[in-house]
Amino acid sequence: MSSPLVNVTLTVNGKTYTRKVPASLPLVDFLHEEISLTGTKFGCGIGVCRACTVAACRTPQAHAVPTLACSTPVGELNGQTLTTVEGLAGPSGPNPLQQAFLDEFAFQCGYCTPGFLMATTLLMERLRARPIPVDQLDTAIQDACGSHICRCTGYARYYAAIRKVILGTPGLISR
Ligand code: FES
Ligand code: FES
Repeated sequence: MSSPLVNVTLTVNGKTYTRKVPASLPLVDFLHEEISLTGTKFGCGIGVCRACTVAACRTPQAHAVPTLACSTPVGELNGQTLTTVEGLAGPSGPNPLQQAFLDEFAFQCGYCTPGFLMATTLLMERLRARPIPVDQLDTAIQDACGSHICRCTGYARYYAAIRKVILGTPGLISR
């Protein structure tokens, strides 16, 4: 049975889009096919690899949460505010986290990179709101990124880059 068409309005990276689409359309298809944002990657398609992670805010005041675009129907996100990997870089180029991934040669094919970027961005937002002692940092990184799969096995370099950028960003670690 086909999914009913519904009007869906999403604010993505600061721009608001309304489209009439099947309610069950996966968010990743909405991003790729309806609004031409192809940075979010489709890996496993079953909620395991986390390559497709985006940040979603239920209300403008709510904290953003990691959301799997492959397995979240766009109809469930109607009215929400999303950030995808396209929303991370600044006008002058890569943000510090993106630069750290480049500096540490963290990725090879890069397919998993948008997911790692989004998960770490959300971790950094949480730490900005509630800094942690440095001895809890490795656990916090593991909690945020430990379930992300990199088929090129770049884990050590990703984690080194994430650690470096968090330690170098004022306000994330309590002293
Ligand atoms: S593509 Fe979404 S979790 Fe793998
Ligand atoms: S860099 Fe290739 S999957 Fe991670």
